Amino acid sequence: MIEEVSNYLNQIRHEFTSQALNEEAAGDIPVELYAKWLEEAVGAQVLDPKAMVVSTVSGNGKPSSRVVYNRGITETGFKFYTNYDSRKGHDLENNPFVSVNVFWSEMERQIRMEGTVSKLDREESDAYFKARPRDSQIGAWASAQSQKVTDREELEKWVKHFNEKFEGMEVPRPPHWGGYFIEATYFEFWQGRPARLHDRIIFEKDGNTWNKYRVAP
Ligand SMILES: Cc1cc2nc3c(=O)[nH]c(=O)nc-3n(C[C@H](O)[C@H](O)[C@H](O)COP(=O)(O)O)c2cc1C
Repeated sequence: MIEEVSNYLNQIRHEFTSQALNEEAAGDIPVELYAKWLEEAVGAQVLDPKAMVVSTVSGNGKPSSRVVYNRGITETGFKFYTNYDSRKGHDLENNPFVSVNVFWSEMERQIRMEGTVSKLDREESDAYFKARPRDSQIGAWASAQSQKVTDREELEKWVKHFNEKFEGMEVPRPPHWGGYFIEATYFEFWQGRPARLHDRIIFEKDGNTWNKYRVAP
């Protein structure tokens, strides 16, 4: 089985042919290009275009990656929500640098971003939490994200516990749950092209300006 799969991986080739990206089309503000590409991904019915892989690095230098949802953009970066006591939360406590990756295979596009995180202010996390479905709000209390659990029953016990605790009242935001803002310092927009001559346009922040340049594929 492993050998067959390994052979398969070795043999498949994909030719990227659908689109191009040039310096002019890339514009001057990378988040605007991200927004344009996101809109096109939505239009093309990419399954989950708000999903992005965020990589963090622990205090002892070990990287780890996971998918989170992009829950907001500004001119300077992205927002996501999570448990501050999770593995990523601990990583970010020690090291605020992140690397983000989005791959929209249907669009033959990859976006890489790097930046520094800070916690969103309490009011913003409160407002987002309030707008979540009640089951998700209870889940934020019941799940000590990234901690060991004995079995699924234990999780369900905690869900029941917090459902009872907050019965008949609004579920408050847990103090360990909230948002992060990723202030971007670097973007790469990758568009697959034929014969592996892909387009790669980089935006690198220098003070308040973005420097734009092309790199070889
Ligand atoms: C499509 C998708 C979307 C996800 N969105 C989030 C999210 O917005 N926030 C979050 O904390 N975890 C999200 N997760 C779960 C994370 O990938 C991860 O399992 C969790 O955050 C724990 O990561 P950690 O142990 O590295 O902290 C998502 C997973 C998938 C597959």
